[in-house]
Amino acid sequence: MNTEASVVELVLESDLKNVEVAEEVARRVSGTAGFDEEDQHRIDMAVHETLINAIWHGNKNDPSKSVWLRFEIFRDRLEIRVRDQGSGYDPKGVPDPLKDENLLNSSGRGIFLIRTFMDEYRVESQAGKGTEVILVKRLNPNHSSDQ
Ligand SMILES: Nc1ncnc2c1ncn2[C@@H]1O[C@H](COP(=O)(O)OP(=O)(O)OP(=O)(O)O)[C@@H](O)[C@H]1O
Ligand SMILES: [Mg+2]
Repeated sequence: MNTEASVVELVLESDLKNVEVAEEVARRVSGTAGFDEEDQHRIDMAVHETLINAIWHGNKNDPSKSVWLRFEIFRDRLEIRVRDQGSGYDPKGVPDPLKDENLLNSSGRGIFLIRTFMDEYRVESQAGKGTEVILVKRLNPNHSSDQ
């Protein structure tokens, strides 16, 4: 693999049907980046949860609003950015799904799962500018496409 980053970008209408399209692209891009099938599946699930949040919580299911998705393959990692047109949020305010009082809740596990599947989950959010979620998965330093 050369040292330049390789980029794939998508703009999606806020329709849950597009989540499948994005997952498919996520799987293909992570295969290209050199992740094994298990990691490709983890990345695809993280993209699934992040996109549902962007469409549902960010864009409130409004089809006139879009979600931007950007995959960037670096030599040592894959970075995925998901940007919506919502009012933003602070992940510190999200309740911990592992706390006793939250264990029986039927929702509130998406971000917990994303953090389990990926190495980093960061949120950049500015009032009126939507939310940008940054997901990072690092490549095993011995992966084959690096040789
Ligand atoms: N893009 C976003 N814009 C605004 N708020 C968000 C966004 N992503 C997450 N949130 C907030 O973070 C909370 C936790 O998200 P998380 O995915 O963990 O749970 P959930 O979406 O409520 O339920 P689940 O994913 O388990 O169905 C959401 O309820 C929402 O308040
Ligand atoms: Mg969710």
